[in-house]
Amino acid sequence: MPSLSPDTLIREVVETHKGADAVFAAHGLPCAGCHVSTRESIRGGAAVHRLDLDALMADLERFIADGTVPPARRKPAGPSAPPMERQRKPGVEHVVAVMSGKGGVGKSTVTALLAVALRRRGRSVGILDADITGPSQAKLFGVTARLHQGADGKPHPPVTRTGIPLMSMNFLLDNENQAVIWRGPMVSSAIKQFYGDLEWGKLDYLLIDLPPGTSDAPLTVLQALPVDGTVLVSTPQGLATMIVSKAIKLVQQLNSKVIGLVENMSYFVDSSGQRTEPFGPSKGVELVVESGAPLLAQLPIDPVLAALCDEGKIEDYASPDYDALAENFIKVLPALAAGTPASR
Ligand SMILES: Nc1ncnc2c1ncn2[C@@H]1O[C@H](COP(=O)(O)OP(=O)(O)O)[C@@H](O)[C@H]1O
Ligand SMILES: [Mg+2]
Repeated sequence: MPSLSPDTLIREVVETHKGADAVFAAHGLPCAGCHVSTRESIRGGAAVHRLDLDALMADLERFIADGTVPPARRKPAGPSAPPMERQRKPGVEHVVAVMSGKGGVGKSTVTALLAVALRRRGRSVGILDADITGPSQAKLFGVTARLHQGADGKPHPPVTRTGIPLMSMNFLLDNENQAVIWRGPMVSSAIKQFYGDLEWGKLDYLLIDLPPGTSDAPLTVLQALPVDGTVLVSTPQGLATMIVSKAIKLVQQLNSKVIGLVENMSYFVDSSGQRTEPFGPSKGVELVVESGAPLLAQLPIDPVLAALCDEGKIEDYASPDYDALAENFIKVLPALAAGTPASR
């Protein structure tokens, strides 16, 4: 390979020199698992994350020469409250909240498809639909079963066709069109019970589909449940991006972590192969800068997906975009657990 230049693509460096992602990570660049790295140069990545380009280049060259990985550069500690003690549930490895600023950006759809893609990869994954007044997960998966009592005498959530335990307010209503008119404290207590009182079994990941915005429910989840981090879903539309900025601030104020960002409805490819961006150009890079977290995926608008959602057959949907999302998600979580800058 020709000698390294600041204009070399990050992905090229990481692919050519196995282990080089550790050098980027030490500098605070979450390139492993970040969609941006596929088209970002070292110079661009350093600019986005406000890094010292010369120091990064020097460390990369040293790594290529003799394999040395530099120690992690400490970011100045921000104002932060001490982490709250939260009850971990035995058997549930990671709890991850999925949040958006604005409704209708596809947060529930992305939560469901992330779960489906993780399940296809052999991971055990459950979904807690924390949108108590506007639940949608039961409908997406076409699940109408109710809670059942296991041999252990405990209540178990219904399980989807491909083996995803799922809890949603729908399972407690007489009919799915019934309105739930509950105040904040009742919503919060329902979410805590969904998590605490149900027997979820052994799970690698429990995904929590939050209602849009920064209301009581997201606060409850981030404060009362042992959430490892949050995935933020947005669309490129200016309004959605502006509101997701608030969600980023909320997560950071609560001393929680943004694991990654997902840009949904990024583009549309018509039958002639023509690609359009109905909501405008991607805002992914701006959100990466603001949150310091990687862009896990940019997902297209797909009418096939919308139809399968309406039919309750979301598990029939397969797309390489969601495979990439799941792969990136799996990659960034260990970095989060280790407390590297990728998690911040
Ligand atoms: N990538 C996509 N392509 C096509 N339709 C989508 C896509 N993402 C979401 N939708 C559709 O948009 C609507 C809103 O999605 P939903 O997941 O309910 O949003 P949210 O949970 O953010 O309110 C749904 O009808 C869903 O089927
Ligand atoms: Mg929703």
